[in-house]
Amino acid sequence: MSFYIRFLLLIVMVKCTTSVHYKCVQGRESTMRINLDSVKWNYERLISKLPPKHPVMGVVKGNAYGMGAVAVSRTLLRLGAKYLAVAIVDEGVYLRKHGIKAPILVLGYTAAFGQGIDLAIRYSLTLNVFSIEVLNAIQKKVRNSALPVKIHIKVNTGLSRLGIEPDEVVPFVKLIKYGFYPNIEVEGIFSHFGYSDAIEIESLKKYATQQLKIFKKVVGKVREIMNIPIAHIANSNGVEYLGEEAHLDMVRPGSSILGFRSFAKPPLSLSSIVTDVRKPAAGMQIGYRENVTATGNQWIAAVPLGYADGLRPECGDVGRVLIKGTRVPIVSGIMMDQMLVDVTEVYPVAAGEPVVIIGRQGSSEIRLEDIVKMCGGTEYSWASQLSKRIPRVYVKKNRVVYCENDMLTY
Ligand SMILES: Cc1ncc(COP(=O)(O)O)c(C=O)c1O
Repeated sequence: MSFYIRFLLLIVMVKCTTSVHYKCVQGRESTMRINLDSVKWNYERLISKLPPKHPVMGVVKGNAYGMGAVAVSRTLLRLGAKYLAVAIVDEGVYLRKHGIKAPILVLGYTAAFGQGIDLAIRYSLTLNVFSIEVLNAIQKKVRNSALPVKIHIKVNTGLSRLGIEPDEVVPFVKLIKYGFYPNIEVEGIFSHFGYSDAIEIESLKKYATQQLKIFKKVVGKVREIMNIPIAHIANSNGVEYLGEEAHLDMVRPGSSILGFRSFAKPPLSLSSIVTDVRKPAAGMQIGYRENVTATGNQWIAAVPLGYADGLRPECGDVGRVLIKGTRVPIVSGIMMDQMLVDVTEVYPVAAGEPVVIIGRQGSSEIRLEDIVKMCGGTEYSWASQLSKRIPRVYVKKNRVVYCENDMLTY
């Protein structure tokens, strides 16, 4: 075979293996785009604040804050993250089933009863443990397994949500050390800052600094009893505002990497199209609300996204979307699968006209923070509620590199 033919064959092979990712199958015209270059930019900004190679646990709970746990996890691991964190066992199993092999910590509660512990053992998930019942249940279930179950002990230092109180940690660790838990490996100890959404940075720093002090004291004491290699507490704000004091053995950020900070690049956009346009006669009802009636001069367009996709009903009277680069109002509430927008200002508009719900259109932009201003909620709550009904398309250097449409995966 000539060199030329071999070269051509090589190009065809490379194209075939990569083109799998380019085939985005979706039966609807609404799409979330996640710009992985922005995720990379945010991640690199974050690690520039850490010592070289400082371990990062990427928090990908809530479907990576709505952006798709599998693609985001793969991206973070490629960028150098050593650990991932999810909120519940099923999220960890989901990642394992998608081929993610990195260590995964379940940040939330896993019950002593039920199937959570069995699943965690089967899928090698690290568990957050802060009760003797759960500790005993793990030991009972793991005793015939070849590998120990790794646990991280959770300490409550001020969030008052989950965890052992600081003065109960030493007895708990002594119990593990001197009790009979041969199949449990205490790999880590952690806590969580309480003021992660604080707008007022000084109060965030003050409270978090107190929490950090308590945590470090506890870690110092337990390390006199047992070697627990990984202590971690710093979320995004911890890394951003507390400096190296809070880095400890690993940092545990989520939101700043995913663009939810003024200093970060937002990777997420959401777009759709107009499906129908009409000029209802004066007095005709618009949508389901009998008190919303047409003036006779309005052009109303339907957009096929609704609250079953995660758009919150609160936006129904005050929200805006971009059409032809102009912010046009949503009218008469958000329905399950559709919303109506008043396009009079930008008419003529026809079916197929692009609509941007989050992101840029021309020189105009609606960011998540604008949606929060218009409709309330928080940026995280908005993003993490965008449902799996919306296909996620991942973009690098303006090219689609991967797609995920959970509706069509079975
Ligand atoms: C226990 C825990 N650790 C880390 C994080 C990541 O926090 P952030 O998204 O503020 O970086 C969260 C998120 O809420 C969390 O619940």
